[in-house]
Amino acid sequence: PRNLSRRGLLLGGAAGLGAAAAIGIDRAVSTSPSSTQPATHGEQTEPFYGTHQAGIATAPQAHATFYGFDLLDDVDREGLRRMMRLLTDDGARLTQGRAALADSEPELAEVPARLTITFGFGPEFVRRADPSAVPPWLKPLPEFTIDRLQPSWSDGDFLIQVAADDPLTVSHASRMLLKDVRTFASLRWTQKGFRRAHGSEKVGLTMRNLFGQLDGTVNPAPGTEEFDRVVWSQDGWLTGGTGLVIRRIDMDLEGWDEIDRPGREQSVGRTMGTGAPLTGGAELDEPDFEAVNEFGFPIIADYAHVRRARSDNPDEVIFRRAYNYEGEQDTATASNAGQVFAAFQADVDKQFVPIQQRLDELDMLNLWTTPVGSSVFAIPPGCSEGGYIGETLLD
Ligand code: HEM
Repeated sequence: PRNLSRRGLLLGGAAGLGAAAAIGIDRAVSTSPSSTQPATHGEQTEPFYGTHQAGIATAPQAHATFYGFDLLDDVDREGLRRMMRLLTDDGARLTQGRAALADSEPELAEVPARLTITFGFGPEFVRRADPSAVPPWLKPLPEFTIDRLQPSWSDGDFLIQVAADDPLTVSHASRMLLKDVRTFASLRWTQKGFRRAHGSEKVGLTMRNLFGQLDGTVNPAPGTEEFDRVVWSQDGWLTGGTGLVIRRIDMDLEGWDEIDRPGREQSVGRTMGTGAPLTGGAELDEPDFEAVNEFGFPIIADYAHVRRARSDNPDEVIFRRAYNYEGEQDTATASNAGQVFAAFQADVDKQFVPIQQRLDELDMLNLWTTPVGSSVFAIPPGCSEGGYIGETLLD
């Protein structure tokens, strides 16, 4: 079923291209002068309104910036409602290529490039709105032995995820949204992430992380029953929403340099080239966890990341939507890079925590990866035109 899901995703990508081609044909036969312009990728939009917020099931854009905020002391339920109305209004405009309400650079809004804007509520946000409405899992994760968390990369009362295929679009939308927020909250952290630029690769391929690995192969595919079950909450005000764990994970690229290719492949249980399981086949084929080599040792080692990350329990599945990050380096030989690991799931305690606990106990990748930031947010459902994000909690 995992393979089928994955194929579904690829087909989804192909359908998207089909739609774009159809638009191209329309434009070619139309007689209006402006329609002879070729459609650019920058004109593409993702819907803002809907049952779910955009930016989760949306095919990952090339750039994403995550902003974590602390609410100001005097902001109460009514204040939160005002903030969310303002943000919803500007989010709806910007994502459709229209200027924000008080846009200081309206021309920059004209290239949406699949912009999505996604809002998340930390524990304190929900507490201020309604102390009885805090989901039991909406709290800092338990401590793990691998963690070296820095408060400046962790927690937060409120989240905005801004993602698009154009970095200038992300920058402009962010500036507009941060202006809306400033009388309600202060900025706690900013995490910028990237994948390959749009157009560099075929749509729908698995991304590569900064270790060079294909990362995201086994992942529920949007549009499948598995995805809906794993991601969307069915719990009270959060119905149609989800939970988000953001882990900032430092990747020791210099340490990774010292490992040869077989060592790198052993640590995960997949090949570097195609991402196929070490037991053979292609990227999307199932690993054979029972297979042993001529000496009787498992081909996918006991410490391999994919063995440790997988569970027999069908509840323990998450949807990963990670981005690479790279910060300023102090020297040419000390990288400052890693992954903004973002995982969506309906229930963080049931789904994410047991996986992370297993990886904390044993995972070869831990030798080169260190979590330095950690946050948990409730992502409210979407809304329809005239409504606002958060209304199921705040009205
Ligand atoms: C699989 C890399 C952190 C959960 C994989 C794969 C790679 C990878 C290369 C195999 C291909 C794939 O299926 O995507 C990394 C790196 C990490 C990291 C470099 C840190 C920088 C995490 C964390 C979790 C996690 C923190 C969850 C707590 C998973 C899961 C799979 C996976 C669930 C799929 C396992 C399966 O085959 O069923 N990861 N990972 N990973 N990873 Fe990670």
